[in-house]
Amino acid sequence: MQNGNIGIFDSGIGGVTVLKEIIKLLPNENYIYYSDSINNPYGDKSDQEIKNICDKIVLHLINKNAKVIVIACNTASAKAVSFLRKKYPNMIFIAIEPAYKMVHDYNYSEPTLIMATKGTIESEKFNLLLKKYNNHNTYILACKGLADLIESDNKLEIKKYLNEHLNKYKNKIKNVVLGCTHYPLIENDIKEILGPVKFFNGSPNLAKHLKDILETNNLLNNGEGNIIFLDSSNSKNKEKRFYELLKK
Ligand code: DGL
Repeated sequence: MQNGNIGIFDSGIGGVTVLKEIIKLLPNENYIYYSDSINNPYGDKSDQEIKNICDKIVLHLINKNAKVIVIACNTASAKAVSFLRKKYPNMIFIAIEPAYKMVHDYNYSEPTLIMATKGTIESEKFNLLLKKYNNHNTYILACKGLADLIESDNKLEIKKYLNEHLNKYKNKIKNVVLGCTHYPLIENDIKEILGPVKFFNGSPNLAKHLKDILETNNLLNNGEGNIIFLDSSNSKNKEKRFYELLKK
């Protein structure tokens, strides 16, 4: 039975890394993925700009019959989820955040690097997370500009960027928290520089949480399930890349 769809959004195609994990657990759902590529990157925008942007997307997804909305962007989650929960008290929001708690749970004292956007790292939400789970062996790297390079699939520039910013951590780091949903797409490039690190990504746990919420609220879909892709700049290239990444 169709009882509404799962709305999911990011500043571009990065959130596909979240959707992939969700589909593994919930293959029978109907999804509307909103790629806000016209506003990419979110990482350098002010809190108010992010709130306004997210507000418009959420309204759009609600009008398309969303039963739950997944914020597949760490920056948007950090800056706008409290505002959205207050403004739309009847909507269920599931928000990604950097998986630093997982490091605490599994590898407490090992040297850890958290990579995220400037916006995420400067946010109050992230700083509370850091304070709560601090292993006092953690380096924080605000990767200004990296999500844009991944968004535009600029392979050469990505390698150059990582070389420039990650070389100083070579062989020093055991855990890397991928605090931006675009970053799992470049895990291999990161490993090439840092060596054999373990990655921490919040998407598998988010997917489990979403499944629990749908079950508890009796919102599971029994039909076949489909995916609709929308992009704010109407880019056919984005759509093509999105489906390619989804299949990988
Ligand atoms: N994928 C995003 C995140 O998780 C955002 C990147 C950006 O637009 O700066 O933070």
